[in-house]
Amino acid sequence: MTTTPHSHEIALIPGDGIGPELVDSAVRVLTAAAGSDVDLRFTTEDAGADTYRRTGAALSDETFTRLRGYAGILKGPVGLPSVRKPDGTEAGLLGGILRGGLDTYVNERPMTLLPGIDRPLRSTEDIDYVIVRENTEGLYLARGLGVGNDHACADQLLMTRPGVERVVRYAFELARRRGGAPADGVRRVTCVDKSNVLRSYAFFRQIFDEIGEQYPDIERDYRYADAAGHDLVANPSHFDVLVMENFLGDILSDVGAATIGGLGMCPAGNIGDSAAYFEPIHGSAPTIAGRDLANPTSQILAAAMLAEHLGEATLAGRVRAAVRAAYASGHIRVLPNGSPASGTKAATQAVIDAFDS
Ligand code: NAD
Ligand code: IPM
Ligand code: MN
Repeated sequence: MTTTPHSHEIALIPGDGIGPELVDSAVRVLTAAAGSDVDLRFTTEDAGADTYRRTGAALSDETFTRLRGYAGILKGPVGLPSVRKPDGTEAGLLGGILRGGLDTYVNERPMTLLPGIDRPLRSTEDIDYVIVRENTEGLYLARGLGVGNDHACADQLLMTRPGVERVVRYAFELARRRGGAPADGVRRVTCVDKSNVLRSYAFFRQIFDEIGEQYPDIERDYRYADAAGHDLVANPSHFDVLVMENFLGDILSDVGAATIGGLGMCPAGNIGDSAAYFEPIHGSAPTIAGRDLANPTSQILAAAMLAEHLGEATLAGRVRAAVRAAYASGHIRVLPNGSPASGTKAATQAVIDAFDS
């Protein structure tokens, strides 16, 4: 008996800098993994800094409306430091438009140490935690709204009760689905804040406790953000799930990346109740663009998160297993500067070859 393969319409946003080569890698891997089991239909959509330069908008209203119609979105990094607005901020970014516009209130950033990665840490323990970054408010709500003149400038940090409740609840639910921290197997959610200094972060912690009480099976844990930065480097195996305000999550996820082989190892899911999109945590790395130097693992693992989100858990598992196998066998080796030793294309091929092994 033959069955009709599941079919999914997927939007691709290749983006700027290394974006197009990474999205190309991820599509190759996803297509090879899907085989004839899953029918993936890709459509390329135009957005980012180069789009802004050509059209005057980083993403048009028509494109935004179309994006809502896809089953999933795979986005490459966007932005070019030279493309800026009169207020001095970058013009080609999409965070405000997509994270705010699609209300993807969670930015889920798994930090997993793969076999064979040469890491700059003394610890030999495993690293496998997830940063749950609030994605629609916090300091970033001030995006485009800063006030100032030649003498002073201000951006406000805002937390709302429903905004904090929903992201904290997501973190506890995620901890329930995971196997606990590598160090001790304890299911744990760490609240990261600066509630020693700022009222908004004390509010965040208070709501963390209120929600956490509904999850007696999960350990509640606390770190001030500065100490969290230290412990993510010194004792990463302690962590399971961490939840934090938007700006803190931006910074600490790049800190975590440095302990697992660099930014090119790290995918992210922007997840809401009615929309989601998947991308690397890093940017467009313009200085290495087009030179076969970028590590495509972040984008390939973002594609695996997309597959999971589409309900294709087997496909997601196949991609993750092939990535792990390519690292374990030494077919992908990451240099201290974050580039794959044999190049972007060869690293992509190593993952595809791992499907047959
Ligand atoms: P970046 O993440 O692009 O680069 C930081 C460093 O990491 C650079 O040395 C770069 O070469 C390296 N790097 C990044 N990804 C890599 C990969 N896959 N393989 C190997 N090395 C990699 O950060 P940046 O230089 O601060 O920003 C560049 C542009 O990207 C800016 O316009 C910024 O606003 C934008 N940005 C976009 C996103 C996004 O689209 N989600 C995220 C972060 C930064
Ligand atoms: C990220 C990026 C974005 C952020 C920028 C490009 C707007 O650094 O996704 O981590 O700061 O959120
Ligand atoms: Mn960032």
